[in-house]
Amino acid sequence: MAKPITAFTCTACGASHRKWSGKCDACGAWNTIVEEAPLSQGPGRGLGTRKGKTIPLSDLATQEAPPPRATSGIAELDRVLGGGLVPGSAILVGGDPGIGKSTLLLQAASAFARSGRSAIYVSGEEASAQVRMRAQRLGLGDAPVRLGAETALRDILTTLDAERPDVAVIDSIQTLWSDQIEAAPGSVAQVRTAAHELVAFAKRRGTAVILVGHVTKEGQIAGPRVVEHMVDTVLYFEGERGHQFRILRAHKNRFGPADEIGVFEMTGGGLSEVANPSALFLSERGEPTPGSAVFAGIEGTRPVLTEVQALVAPSTLASPRRTVVGLDGGRVSTILAVLEARCGIPFAGLDVFLNVAGGMRVSEPAADLAIAAALLGAREDSALPSDCVLFGEISLSGALRPVSQAENRLKEAQKLGFSRAILPSATKVEGVAGMRIDRTSDLTSFVGETFGA
Ligand code: TYD
Ligand code: MG
Repeated sequence: MAKPITAFTCTACGASHRKWSGKCDACGAWNTIVEEAPLSQGPGRGLGTRKGKTIPLSDLATQEAPPPRATSGIAELDRVLGGGLVPGSAILVGGDPGIGKSTLLLQAASAFARSGRSAIYVSGEEASAQVRMRAQRLGLGDAPVRLGAETALRDILTTLDAERPDVAVIDSIQTLWSDQIEAAPGSVAQVRTAAHELVAFAKRRGTAVILVGHVTKEGQIAGPRVVEHMVDTVLYFEGERGHQFRILRAHKNRFGPADEIGVFEMTGGGLSEVANPSALFLSERGEPTPGSAVFAGIEGTRPVLTEVQALVAPSTLASPRRTVVGLDGGRVSTILAVLEARCGIPFAGLDVFLNVAGGMRVSEPAADLAIAAALLGAREDSALPSDCVLFGEISLSGALRPVSQAENRLKEAQKLGFSRAILPSATKVEGVAGMRIDRTSDLTSFVGETFGA
């Protein structure tokens, strides 16, 4: 008989390795690689004995239309899901412990239940009485949602199979254990098995299954990334602990646009929706300050305005600080290099701090021009006009590239009281009433026109 293969798996990203090492080559995390139970070699090669079934694609057209999506009535959640929950789909909601996943999903389960769907909320972390207490605090004490407190995978599947709910929330995937596996609860093998069985159940019975996954810092507990590939939709719940804003972001969605965001505010009575995130992200803005620039961005299908803030100060360090929050650090380094090489504006010997206000994270390349404007403003101690928004991608040559959906961006800016926009000359856009548009072809002319440098 062949010798069983010992496998080592990264608990952060799920990559498997042949031998142990301190750092995972795949995701770069330290001390996350653990030994998994040996994989059996399986029954051997060759054909199986059961015949599967295929059907012609064209036959599908004659079957009835698929059941409609279930909407919760929480518009921010429904939009991130791509217009509601698809029956039979599996959704993973990941996030740091304490960010508000249980709160959000209890509210969601109650909303689905109140809109006439049968919903079950299974908690592996809290007793039913504790969940009920939380529900009462959230004003959901009378919602017709069924509660379960269970961690045994087999029992959960039996319950779900008997009750056949439309929506089942499992909080959290790391607390489940299957007696078919010898590994401890929370290990990669247990988390994968639980996810696999629950996803299979979702497809078989048409129940939409929502799995909660904690993002883990220590290596012994598997993180949500190890099951990302199994589910249809991956949502991450983000936010800074000090801020009350929470952002639900779609990282993968088989049934809707990825990159869509839903914005919530954590209040004493649970999470409330933020229908106009731009107003919220800009709410702390006061007088024009050097180093502040408003970026007109697009998140998923809707425009969102955010404020990029920069601080540039003389450094005492041999290699000056580059502290970036809410933006891609690599992107910022590139922009600094372009400013230095193409526009002759050096940042050597200067500490650079960049931040997106309100705890928002911006990953669009269209933010380049706003980042450059914030950096220049901070360096030159000169403020941009407070009624001005910017967008445009910076190429390595210093040229400005046009970005998509310019009109949507401008309309949102106009709605929020901005009256001027700086954007790349090649942008295809008709004017928007009440907006003055300044076109600029490259970074050097932008620097000259805006900062007189
Ligand atoms: P929780 O949903 O338990 O987080 P997770 O399931 O992601 O671990 O949220 C916990 C935090 O939310 C806790 O710090 C308290 C805060 N919170 C409120 O501010 N208001 C509320 O109404 C509730 C229920 C929680
Ligand atoms: Mg929780």
